[in-house]
Amino acid sequence: MNEQTQRELVILGTGYTGRAVYKKAISRRWLTWATSRAPTTHLNFVPPERRIHFDLSDRTTWSNLPHDCDLLWCFPAEPFELVREFARAINVVAGRLVVLGSTSAYHTGPSGEDPPPWIDETAPLDQTKARVQGEEFLRTTCGAIILRVAGIYGPGRNPLTWIKRGRVGPSRKYVNLIHVDDLAEVCLATLTSGGRGEIYNVSDGVPRTWQDICHLARERFGIHPVGDVDTDSAGKRIDNSKLLALLARAGTPLLYTDLRQSLDHIVAVEASTEVTP
Ligand SMILES: NC(=O)c1ccc[n+]([C@@H]2O[C@H](COP(=O)([O-])OP(=O)(O)OC[C@H]3O[C@@H](n4cnc5c(N)ncnc54)[C@H](OP(=O)(O)O)[C@@H]3O)[C@@H](O)[C@H]2O)c1
Repeated sequence: MNEQTQRELVILGTGYTGRAVYKKAISRRWLTWATSRAPTTHLNFVPPERRIHFDLSDRTTWSNLPHDCDLLWCFPAEPFELVREFARAINVVAGRLVVLGSTSAYHTGPSGEDPPPWIDETAPLDQTKARVQGEEFLRTTCGAIILRVAGIYGPGRNPLTWIKRGRVGPSRKYVNLIHVDDLAEVCLATLTSGGRGEIYNVSDGVPRTWQDICHLARERFGIHPVGDVDTDSAGKRIDNSKLLALLARAGTPLLYTDLRQSLDHIVAVEASTEVTP
C-alpha cells in the first residue's frame, strides 16, 4: 500500500479489544468502521455512518461490510463451516486480515516441569477446537495473520477484581497477560507490517504465577484472595520474541510489562471514571 493512502479498517466484533483498537485507529486517522450484532446499543461511541450491523451467523449481514478494507476479527472464528463460507463470500484475500486467537490453542500435555516450558509459535495446536480449525483455515487459505493472545486485562478487566471476587487464587499456575492498550497497538502493527499467514504470540513476555500476583495484590493493594487454589495445571509460559522483533521494527515497544505499574494505572483510571471493574 502507498504510504500516502489512508488505511481503511473494519473491526469485526467491537467488544473490549475492538473498542481500544477503534480509538487508536481513529487517532492515527485510519478510516475505521466498527461492527456489532446490535450497533445502535453497543456502538454509541462510533459515528452512525461508521457503524455496521454484522453477525457471522446471519448471512444477510455479510454484504454490509465495505469491500477491500483491512479486517480485524475480534471474536472466536467458529463454527468452521460458517467461517469458511464467510471467507469465500467476502474474498478476504483482497485486504489484510488479522484474527485474534488465544494461547489456549496450544496443546500442552502434562509436562511435569515446574516452571512449565516456554511456548513459541511452533508449538503443537489443539486441532480439536473449532476456533483453532477456523483460524488455521483463514491462515493457510486466506493468508490471515493469527494473534495467539494471552489473558487480556486493563481498566474494567482488572486482575485485582478477579482476586477479590475469588475468580482466581494463589496457585502455582502460570498466567500470561497482555494489557488491552498494548494489544491494540499490536493489532495495528500487525495489520501494517505483519507477515501474511504468520502467527504471533501476544503477551507481555513475563509469565507470572497467580501466587506472585496475589502476593502483589496483598502487599501493594491490601487485597486478600478468597478463591480456591487450582493445583491441577502448571499453566504455560508464552514466548513473545517473534512479536517483540516485529514491534522493534515498527518502533512501538510494549508499554505495560511491569504489572505493578499497570495495576497502579488501572486503579487510578477506574477511580477517576465510571469504568465498572
Ligand atoms: N478476554 C481474554 O482474556 C482473551 C484472551 C485470549 C484471547 N481472547 C480472544 O480475543 C478476542 C477479543 O477478546 P475480547 O475480550 O475483546 O472480546 P469481546 O469483548 O467479547 O468482544 C468481541 C465482540 O464480538 C462480537 N461478536 C461475538 N460473536 C459474534 C459473531 N458471531 N458475529 C459477529 N460479532 C460477534 C460481540 O459484540 P456485539 O455483541 O456488539 O456483536 C463481542 O462483544 C476474542 O476472540 C477472544 O476470544 C480473549
